[in-house]
Amino acid sequence: MTALLPNRAYRAAYKAQQAAFLLNCLAAHRILRTVSGTSYRPGSDVEALARRRYDELLELDLRNVEQGYYPRSLLFQVPLAEYARVMPSLVRDFPRTIVRAKNKNFKDLPAEVELERYPPYFRRNFHWQTDGYLSRRSADLYDVGVEFLFLGTADIMRRQVIPPLARGLSSTPATSRPKILDVACGTGRTLRQIAEALPDAKLYGLDLSPYYVGAARRLLRHAAPDASFLVENAESTPLRDDTFDAVVSVFLFHELPRAARRNTFREMYRVLKPGGTLVIEDSAQYSEAGPIAGLLERFAVDFHEPYYRDYLRDELADLAREVGFSVEHSGPCFVSKIVVAKKPPLAS
Ligand SMILES: C[S@@+](CC[C@H](N)C(=O)[O-])C[C@H]1O[C@@H](n2cnc3c(N)ncnc32)[C@H](O)[C@@H]1O
Repeated sequence: MTALLPNRAYRAAYKAQQAAFLLNCLAAHRILRTVSGTSYRPGSDVEALARRRYDELLELDLRNVEQGYYPRSLLFQVPLAEYARVMPSLVRDFPRTIVRAKNKNFKDLPAEVELERYPPYFRRNFHWQTDGYLSRRSADLYDVGVEFLFLGTADIMRRQVIPPLARGLSSTPATSRPKILDVACGTGRTLRQIAEALPDAKLYGLDLSPYYVGAARRLLRHAAPDASFLVENAESTPLRDDTFDAVVSVFLFHELPRAARRNTFREMYRVLKPGGTLVIEDSAQYSEAGPIAGLLERFAVDFHEPYYRDYLRDELADLAREVGFSVEHSGPCFVSKIVVAKKPPLAS
């Protein structure tokens, strides 16, 4: 229906939707800070930069639609009914999360899971979330929790990988069905949006959590019925060399230890075709944080992110160069950053 609205009306509708999201999330953040007893208050310079980057993100989102990178409908695809459905479970789960955080109990994982199947760094309650990444319940609650954390911009940030992806695919030799791999696809929210923007692509999702892969399969069931999924460690996969036209990864690297970050970059390089495009989105790092550096450092403490402090200084663009990529772009995107790189083409 929004496709029929004139430009000014749909812009206004979009901004009103995001303002409503923002106000609700800010109120909930305030309650959370009070309940958890967090004393941190961002300074006015932090708030000013966060506000400016937030406004820039919304403008960029609108511009991307106007430039034809993705359909207008994506801007209004907020799964409100789904969020309303899981909200009571999230609220019921909240006291357990607070107790876990207060006791610093990050090994509170489901007894029935065979933990030895996973690398040690993965066997923990990232974000203090119940069951870590290791249950269907966790996968069900994850999306709404992340949207709340990012003040209603999580899906907006995720879809910012689409323009560089589209440009990368259009600059490589034409393939009838370009293959795109999402490394650490989680519940599939990035792939779901790529499916609408690039309907001709064949999509692949990979994640170490079988429960999150299950959620991604369900989410993509109609939008991309032939999407393929793998439960694998991104550090070492059974995928063949030179397979994909593009590889994307969103919000993975801040959760990996140093060596695993490097292994994953090597693996992404290996499975990309020569000339293929890599698009990484993850938390901003010191290089572009400026005054929000303190805010990012708080995140490591408040949300049990043990590898995050090291991540902040382990520049993603350098990691890409180390394994052979040529980096085309690295820059901020609200509280995240985007790195775009190419695997060099074969010499003719
Ligand atoms: C913060 S979530 C991001 C998920 C998703 N990309 C998104 O935008 O919501 C991190 C994801 O990385 C996955 N993950 C962590 N370590 C991994 C590894 N070594 N190999 C594959 N997936 C991994 C987790 O299971 C989780 O789904």
